[in-house]
Amino acid sequence: MLTAPLSRDLGVLFITSEVYPLIKTGGLGDVSAALPAALQELGVDVRLLIPGYPKVLAGLRYKRKVAGFSGLSHFPPFLLWSARLPAGKGASKGVPIFVIDCPSLYRRNGGPYTNTAGQDWPDNAMRFGLLSKIGAILASDASPLIWRPNIVHCNDWQSGLTPAYLHFYQGRKVVSLMSIHNLVFQGVFPPSTLSRLDLPATSFNINGIEYYGDMSFLKAGLYYSDHIITVSPTYAKEIQTMPLGFGLQGLLAGRSDHISGIVNGIDSTKWDPETDPCLAQNYTVKRIAAKAINKRALQQMMGLVVDSDIPLFGMVSRHTYQKGCDLLLQVAPFLARMPAQLVILGSGEAGLDREMAALEKNHPGKIAVRIGFDETLSHLIEGGVDSFLMPSRFEPCGLNQMYSQRYGTPPLVHATGGLLDTVVDCTPATLADGSASGFLFHEMDPRSFLAGIQRVIASYCNKTTWLRLQRNGMAKDFSWRLSAIAYRDIYLSLLPGLYK
Ligand code: ADP
Ligand code: GLC
Repeated sequence: MLTAPLSRDLGVLFITSEVYPLIKTGGLGDVSAALPAALQELGVDVRLLIPGYPKVLAGLRYKRKVAGFSGLSHFPPFLLWSARLPAGKGASKGVPIFVIDCPSLYRRNGGPYTNTAGQDWPDNAMRFGLLSKIGAILASDASPLIWRPNIVHCNDWQSGLTPAYLHFYQGRKVVSLMSIHNLVFQGVFPPSTLSRLDLPATSFNINGIEYYGDMSFLKAGLYYSDHIITVSPTYAKEIQTMPLGFGLQGLLAGRSDHISGIVNGIDSTKWDPETDPCLAQNYTVKRIAAKAINKRALQQMMGLVVDSDIPLFGMVSRHTYQKGCDLLLQVAPFLARMPAQLVILGSGEAGLDREMAALEKNHPGKIAVRIGFDETLSHLIEGGVDSFLMPSRFEPCGLNQMYSQRYGTPPLVHATGGLLDTVVDCTPATLADGSASGFLFHEMDPRSFLAGIQRVIASYCNKTTWLRLQRNGMAKDFSWRLSAIAYRDIYLSLLPGLYK
């Protein structure tokens, strides 16, 4: 019988390409900070592995050199550092982190995946091949550490080769788990890359790393891992069929018994309207009227007409096809003719950045746009707008819709993936049973989105309905604890020996 799990014996190496606050381009950075911290709270011995980009090396204060490597296959020489992430509120110590300091691969200006012009680094296969390789080494008998994990938890394509390296390794077997945060990014490279990455030619097979004539890091992870997790139950189903399987639906459907969907939580210490230092005014569900001070501050700061009664919409996102920016661009001119305002923060594809920026020029005082990445402003938008927009074409989980609900800012979202799993549509029935917390629109077209916007405005004008929506959202528990328990239970189910 399975009884008390021995969390303390559970060692997890969590491999990631970004972690907040050191380096973040999106939700993976948030998850890589919050999930390991929540697992640590449950007694799991979890440690991170990340590439040593300049911001990571600069952001860790007390580092200790663990080992130096040279002559590892085709990889340049590098050092391995050990440190701790900054401790969260209430936690006694931060999560341990290992950093691969390989200057020729990671020490450069630009982002973790792209240069300053937004182009992929040409040597990304080697950059993340090294991350994957070290992940496997740290789990093996060849590790320079005394510590050994019994689970290796990989995240997205950047660590997708780790399960393959572990599969071909001859020694002690370690359980590997592959998390999909976004199936669109698959880490596809020409077949010639394989030999430089120190993987056997036999792996270049439809049952292996081969992917439509190329090699794919993510496919390797999905094929060789013991278990697959994705970040919401709905997305776990969506990726097993077209179109959201993006070419991997066959493999995923074939492994459906080994796929779990667990919604992300949010870091409720960093995203808390009661204490958030980025807000002009903190507030709670009991003092929700004070939220209006943030709206005024945001309207002033962004050059919008200051008006407490006009419904103010907001959007913070990467500017990509995934996020439905094209839909927003189609709908924004209509929104600007309504009694409504819109504030946009984001950056991404150059063409979309330009078109978004043009909205402000064409609708001054009604639409305000900031192109760029601004953590502080993103918090003020969550606290200052009345309703948050997420017209995502697909969304594995999404975090902003949860931040919004916690900030009393009912979101309007496309009914897909994690958005469907975390937002309860406002209807007479859900208002009556106290579950309504936002708005869903079902068709990915401007008409359906606009109809959603009109529903939001109508509800906003009914103060009783709006207050109920705000209160319902703010009362929901989006903390990581429940999700972390689900992750821990999956780890333990893969290691039956750890149960008494
Ligand atoms: P994704 O990971 O697909 O980008 P998520 O909703 O999971 O989407 O997470 C996005 C995270 O990145 C959120 O914390 C969001 O606030 C943040 N974010 C995205 N774009 C920006 C930006 N331009 N400025 C500040 N924060 C941003
Ligand atoms: C991805 C997804 C997003 C998810 C995040 C964290 O970037 O696009 O939906 O919330 O990863 O899991």
